[in-house]
Amino acid sequence: MTIKLGVLISGGGSNLQAIMDAIAGDELDASVEVVISSRPGVSGLDRADRAGIPTVAFGPDDYRDPEAVNLKIRRIFEEHRVDYVVMAGYMRMLGVEVLRAFSDRVVNLHPALLPSFPGAHGIADAYEAGVKLTGVTVHFANELYDEGPIIAQEAVPIAEGDSIADLEAKIHAVEHRLYPQTLQLIAQGRVSVGADRKVRISS
Ligand code: GRF
Repeated sequence: MTIKLGVLISGGGSNLQAIMDAIAGDELDASVEVVISSRPGVSGLDRADRAGIPTVAFGPDDYRDPEAVNLKIRRIFEEHRVDYVVMAGYMRMLGVEVLRAFSDRVVNLHPALLPSFPGAHGIADAYEAGVKLTGVTVHFANELYDEGPIIAQEAVPIAEGDSIADLEAKIHAVEHRLYPQTLQLIAQGRVSVGADRKVRISS
């Protein structure tokens, strides 16, 4: 099966790039139908442009009316007939207008091992806490921020002497591999959410 993705970004788009590369390399049976950014002028939009993918950019003025912007986002994804919404460094709250229309079909990437270190500063919070192990989580997003069913996690050790920049580099390297791999499990129809709200991955 090939799944149609709508990707939400706010910045550099290195995870968007990893997804596009995995598609081009036949490692991910998907297509990116549209990229929406919460900020204009970010390099993630250039990456999509170069790949010939349609883009839409919103800005701070749009987010003054969260309901209206989220309805626009939903409409764009519906027009492009996307199967899954992929959040890749999207730094705004995704509204119920989108979450309810794509129930258990919104995927988020978090740079820590949830439920530890939720929120916008997962890498820095883990580093400051002095934990020896942090990591990356891919999960379905729902109305409770960073609390949706977990699909995949991978641990990243914090070594003696690692700077926060070192840790960021390690986390991003794992993200760029784990996110496309996890989306491929979804494309293969192997990911389901049970009545207990836990994710099962069939072989
Ligand atoms: C990633 O670390 C992601 O986990 C976090 O924001 C970052 C996005 O980076 N939520 P990029 O825009 O994909 O380069």
